[in-house]
This record gives sequence, structure tokens and C-alpha cells, in this order.
Amino acid sequence: MLVTGASGGLGAAIAAGFVAEGARVLAASRTDEYPVPDGVAGRVLADLGAPEAGETLAAAARETLGGLDTLVAAAGGAVKGRVDELPDEVWDAGLEVNLRSAIRLVRATAPLLRTSGGRVVLLSALSASEPRGGHAVSNVGKAGLAALGKTLSRELATDGVLVNCVAPGRIRSRQLDRNFPSEEARAEFAAAHIPLGRFAGPEEIVPVTLLLGSPANTYITGQTVGVDGGMAWGI
Ligand SMILES: NC(=O)c1ccc[n+]([C@@H]2O[C@H](COP(=O)([O-])OP(=O)(O)OC[C@H]3O[C@@H](n4cnc5c(N)ncnc54)[C@H](OP(=O)(O)O)[C@@H]3O)[C@@H](O)[C@H]2O)c1
Repeated sequence: MLVTGASGGLGAAIAAGFVAEGARVLAASRTDEYPVPDGVAGRVLADLGAPEAGETLAAAARETLGGLDTLVAAAGGAVKGRVDELPDEVWDAGLEVNLRSAIRLVRATAPLLRTSGGRVVLLSALSASEPRGGHAVSNVGKAGLAALGKTLSRELATDGVLVNCVAPGRIRSRQLDRNFPSEEARAEFAAAHIPLGRFAGPEEIVPVTLLLGSPANTYITGQTVGVDGGMAWGI
């Protein structure tokens, strides 16, 4: 399997979860500044803002794994700013990483996934269905990702490829810890917006991703599954 964003909070947890289940995992990240989990079958570096990144990762999957049974697209991140403020350059860069890179990646890996009758899991966000003002680019990109997943689930169904999205609410990771650096800030946000009353740990994204991304999933496709502790903007 291939996991993008495997050096980040959620991608690393997912890659480690699949390694623990005995999967051969190719871990992708932009740079080698941050580690990927022990036990992966290989690591590939590619900036998903670059048009050729999808082909680069597909070629690495062919070379390292001899094919591809599962793709988990976990690279990306929130982009701050309002619709009426952001210039084209910010939209372009943010949509490249959060949406277009996934389009290119599934296009490049589709032949491998068709051959294996594989599974695809795209990391969307609660903000795709419940956008919050001030994060315009990532809200739109993640909503696009959910539409991409649904569309692909229909286009690839006859090849036995099942495609789903996982939509985190607030899960501890590098980017989350940048935005909520203190326990106090996290507790205040959680009390206002998360019925379960806390942020999740990165390991809490793993069970649903393991299910959706493995052969154990035989009949769930075209869905977005929230992992958000019931989060809503007003509780
Ligand atoms: N954490 C949450 O609560 C939350 C909520 C909603 C959605 N999400 C989504 O979940 C996914 C994982 O987020 P995270 O919280 O785990 O973030 P994170 O800890 O900041 O990790 C981000 C990962 O994405 C990679 N990445 C970023 N830009 C890239 C690029 N241009 N090319 C290639 N790789 C790139 C990073 O690689 P490097 O280490 O090499 O930079 C890193 O592996 C993202 O799609 C995010 O939008 C997370």
C-alpha cells in the first residue's frame, strides 16, 4: 500500500497501523525532515504541489511493491484566509496540495488499483460538510476531495475498487499542535465544539482507515466517515 503524508500526524499513525497488520507500506512525504514509521517497505519523497508527483509515486509503488492494493492520501493541510481576501496564488497552491494532487495520484495509480481490485481512502475533513469561515481554500479543497471520492467510487466500482473518505474533526498532529499549542486552548475549543470533550489522538484515525482500506471492506464505497467526536460549531 501507499500512504501519502506518512511523515505527518495522521499519515504516520495510519502507516504504522497498516505495518502492524503486516502490510507492505510505501511511505510518501514531501521532505525527509520528519520520520516515517519503522517497518515500512520504502520511503519516497515527492512534493505533491508538482504536476509530476502522481506519476512519481505510481512508479515508486510499481518498483517497491510490484503494484498497489491500497492508496491512502493523507497529505495536505489547512490554509487560512477568507474568500474575499485570498489572492489567486494562495488558492492555486492550496488547491494543488489539497485536491489536485489527489486527482493526479488516483489517475496515475488507477491502472494498478484496477489490477488489484484495490481500496482508496482519501483524508477529507469535517470542514468539507461543515465549513468554518476563515479557512476558505482548505474548505473548498476538502469538499472537492469528498466529491472526488464519490465520483471515483462510481467510476471504479466495476473494477472492484472501493473508494471512501475519512473526515477528521480535531486530531492531534503537527498542524493541529501549531494551531492549538496548549492544553488550555484545546480544552477550551473542545468544550465549545466537541461533544466527546477532547481532541483525538492520531491513533484514533487508524481503525476506520484499516477497515476501509483493507480487503475486510467488501461493500462500503462512496462514503465519508467522520472521525470527529461528534464535533459541531455549536454545542
Ligand atoms: N489533524 C486534524 O485534525 C485534521 C483535520 C481535518 C483534516 N485533516 C487532514 O488530514 C491530513 C493529515 O493532516 P495532519 O493533521 O496529519 O497534518 P501534518 O501533521 O501537518 O502532516 C502533513 C503531512 O502532509 C505532507 N505534506 C504537506 N504538504 C505536502 C506537499 N506539498 N507534498 C507532499 N506532502 C505534503 C507532510 O509532509 P512533510 O512532513 O514532508 O512536510 C506531512 O506528511 C491532511 O490532509 C489534513 O488536511 C487533519
